[in-house]
Amino acid sequence: MTQKVRKAVLPVAGLGTRFLPATKATPKEMLTVVDKPIIQYVVEEALAAGIEEFVFVTGRGKSAIENHFDKPYELVDMLERKGKLKELAAVTEILPENTKLFYTRQGAPLGLGHAIYQARSVIGDEPFAVLLPDDIIYDDSENALSKMIDVHSQTGSNVVLTMNVPQDRTQNYGVIDIQNEQVENGKVQAHGFVEKPKPEDAPSTLAVTGRYVFNASIFDELAQTKPGHGGEIQLTDAMDSLLQKEDFYGYILKGERFDCGDKFGFQQANLYFALKDEFIGPKLKEYIQTISTSDVFKNVKCA
Ligand code: UTP
Repeated sequence: MTQKVRKAVLPVAGLGTRFLPATKATPKEMLTVVDKPIIQYVVEEALAAGIEEFVFVTGRGKSAIENHFDKPYELVDMLERKGKLKELAAVTEILPENTKLFYTRQGAPLGLGHAIYQARSVIGDEPFAVLLPDDIIYDDSENALSKMIDVHSQTGSNVVLTMNVPQDRTQNYGVIDIQNEQVENGKVQAHGFVEKPKPEDAPSTLAVTGRYVFNASIFDELAQTKPGHGGEIQLTDAMDSLLQKEDFYGYILKGERFDCGDKFGFQQANLYFALKDEFIGPKLKEYIQTISTSDVFKNVKCA
């Protein structure tokens, strides 16, 4: 029987250079989307999919992430004394009681594949999820990671989250080769991964996004993977070699994906979640309508 996926690896050791100077002293994952750090959205998504144990692969300057998930005794005590119950809930209800957190360090940022490999001894010999905290994934109607875990438990295969991208954007993504496979209940068998193909060479328009469910066998492939593009140990290279031995499925995202590692995606996420907020949403909508027709921005052309 297929083992249940209950552990997740969150690689957070990257340097976040696209967000300098904001990320000089603050981890990118701690940047705020409305009123929560990005990493909290990602942890909440994983908890909703049934994840019970988290392995954070951290690096230098990332201790704010550990502090964020700690219980802040002095703050709790003060909020209790002052009867500030809403604020108290905001700091105490981040994680359910039974959640376990592990932190391991990636000595140097040698690539995503190298980061995930650092979690090997904590994960052991069981299937696990990987969530790249750069991506906030949101869907009102379903939790994509939970669906991916279902695909894993039905097939025993590895699963990657994919989304349809415009044909002229394929060179920004890893793309799945699905040959003639049909999409069935949101899933499709993958026959290969092509890193950043030109539109004319792209085998499909299904781009790999930041959620994965792997069997523990990915660690053997990562151990064998030589530095690739940019001198880094690339996860895609290890996935490619595992694909020669085990099946992979793509699960197609129905909801939204915000690439918060990128300035535009980060602003989109802020707007989206702020507009959804019952208190600030209506005021923000009115403000956007007002400023978008204001003279101050008349020279800003739509892309
Ligand atoms: P990115 O390449 O998007 O993150 O890696 P980065 O390096 O922090 O970003 P920029 O390009 O310099 O702005 C995707 C994810 O993989 C992690 C990152 O923290 C991010 O969550 N990562 C990447 C590691 O943990 N270690 C690495 O060596 C590389």
